[in-house]
Amino acid sequence: MTLARRAFITGGAHTAYLGKGHPDFIWKGHKDFGARENPTLEQTLQAAVDGCLADTGVDPASIDRLYIGNFVGELFVNQGHLGAALVGTNAAFEGKPAARLEAACASGGLAILAGLDVIAAGADLVLVAGVEIQTTASARVGGDYLARAAHYSRQRGIDDFTFPALFARRIKAYKEAYGLSDEDLGRFAVKAYANANKNPLAHMKAARMTLEQAGSTNDKNPHFLANPELNPWLRMSDCSQVSDGASVLLLASEAGVAKLGRSLADTVEIAGRGHAVSSLYTDGDPTALSTVRRATSGALADAGIKASDLHIAEVHDCFTIAELMTYEALGLAPKGEGAALLRDGRTQLDGDLPVNTGGGLVGFGHPVGATGVKQPLEIFRQMKGRCGDYQVQRPLHWGLTSNMGGDDKTVVSLAIRNQS
Ligand code: CAA
Repeated sequence: MTLARRAFITGGAHTAYLGKGHPDFIWKGHKDFGARENPTLEQTLQAAVDGCLADTGVDPASIDRLYIGNFVGELFVNQGHLGAALVGTNAAFEGKPAARLEAACASGGLAILAGLDVIAAGADLVLVAGVEIQTTASARVGGDYLARAAHYSRQRGIDDFTFPALFARRIKAYKEAYGLSDEDLGRFAVKAYANANKNPLAHMKAARMTLEQAGSTNDKNPHFLANPELNPWLRMSDCSQVSDGASVLLLASEAGVAKLGRSLADTVEIAGRGHAVSSLYTDGDPTALSTVRRATSGALADAGIKASDLHIAEVHDCFTIAELMTYEALGLAPKGEGAALLRDGRTQLDGDLPVNTGGGLVGFGHPVGATGVKQPLEIFRQMKGRCGDYQVQRPLHWGLTSNMGGDDKTVVSLAIRNQS
């Protein structure tokens, strides 16, 4: 479905993504424990909105509409009704139309789609936010909250860590079908941490991950699932992080870009979009991400390009195997051979298709409602040369995002074209 009006990303901001393993994250062993606390949802959202307004120079009064992606604020911080929370970040937003969108970890992607729809309908400036605070609960309790993204009555009992277990099931099926080695899977975590180590906003900016650690089972990288059938297939390093954070960007029509006093060359265009949803009640082939395939091929077709035209991608590596399977869903590698793309260096920062340059969900972090907003903002920042130590050193014309909610259930994909 082609957009009736063109839509552009004009700028935005991320907070730092914080959680266990980040030097500024307050936990009981931290030197500042008791003296200060981690930022709340209000503070996190406020910082990212203020950052976006400063980055774009937009007059907040001129914003037509506001959307926010968030999964389970009610459970982690006892806060729902986040459309009104977003309006509360600036006096000039008072009375404007605003709404929250939810599709588990694709909540941010859905908020972007809502922004595109309203631009197509005539709006010129739309602020899109994503936020999640998750560190208020232990990973085990949070595992129960996040299990609401699965089919709770059927899948909750698989393990306390429901999502890690669902993806352990995929690793098991894939390894049994194709013989993927621990080392080949470990490389995905090594890339994620190496990229995050260059990114000052990343959750894992200061944590090192070697292939020796990620490619084997050891004290620092244990199997941790209680489910005996799934335990041997997933290591700690295969998992995305439990992070707090927010990302906010400003979408504009061509008229909106002019209102900002900017030229199209300052922007990137969302030139294609794909949105696919599969039933919550049944599961498909565990060795493939068929909904990711539908959404990404939809975005590429919408933009009139092929996967081989891409110069950069941000994909949903909620677990290492998901990045590998997304390569195959995109048709970049035949089934069973996705790991070769990384082994050959092609998706590294200096490869011909760098993927998850700031660290992805494993390294940058995964505040679930923010991830789908973070991804297109990262493509914008890369295309405009703003990524500092993790800047890709070649021209970037076409990018793609893939944001997945649940176990391949709701997927939002965007094809993004640099404007120059
Ligand atoms: N040996 C054996 N077991 C160990 C261990 C060791 N050395 N260290 C830890 N464990 C076990 C313990 O059982 C521990 O639990 P308890 O402390 O409650 O007994 C468990 O592993 C977890 O340990 P921690 O709580 O210390 O681990 P952590 O806080 O560092 O968290 C993690 C690690 C569990 C992997 C956590 O990062 C995690 O849950 N990540 C995944 C987050 C997630 O699922 N996000 C959603 C992705 S899915 C998606 O994107 C789609 C969607 O819509 C949801």
